[in-house]
Amino acid sequence: MGEPLLWQTAQPVAEEEFGSPGLLALIADMEATMAAANGAGLAAPQIGVSKQLVIFGGFVSPRYPDAGPVPYTVLCNPVIEPLPDAEIVEDWEGCLSVPGLRGLVPRPAAVRYRGFDQYGHAIDRVATGFHARVAQHESDHLFGVLYPMRIRDFTSFGYTDVLFPGQLPAED
Ligand code: NI
Repeated sequence: MGEPLLWQTAQPVAEEEFGSPGLLALIADMEATMAAANGAGLAAPQIGVSKQLVIFGGFVSPRYPDAGPVPYTVLCNPVIEPLPDAEIVEDWEGCLSVPGLRGLVPRPAAVRYRGFDQYGHAIDRVATGFHARVAQHESDHLFGVLYPMRIRDFTSFGYTDVLFPGQLPAED
């Protein structure tokens, strides 16, 4: 947090980039970074690349032990819409770009997200629960938004090891 790239709107993935060695190598780098940090997801700007590309899901992160399963997803150029009747719900979020902290973040509980995988195949899904939350959190990274900017009640924002002593890895 503080790196200017994280406040910017990232560049869309161009048609000719889908399936290219460069894009696939970037995704492999992001997968390794996400796994090393036990992240639930990662956006390209978090590793210094201004591209509308996120990855999320695929395993249960020890940083989010209560999260339901989320399919492993590579999502380029995402567009996310809340479902018309979606409630706004709050849940705890952290971020690899905001280490050591957690905050209670309000978000729509159910969304439709669309975009493309790394080969340019269309993705169009409805997601709820943690799946909806992580898709929104990661997509926010592509439009200059970090989760603390969405917090309404700052009494629910603090250090992980103070909020959840002994329950979650303190370094995140
Ligand atoms: Ni994040």
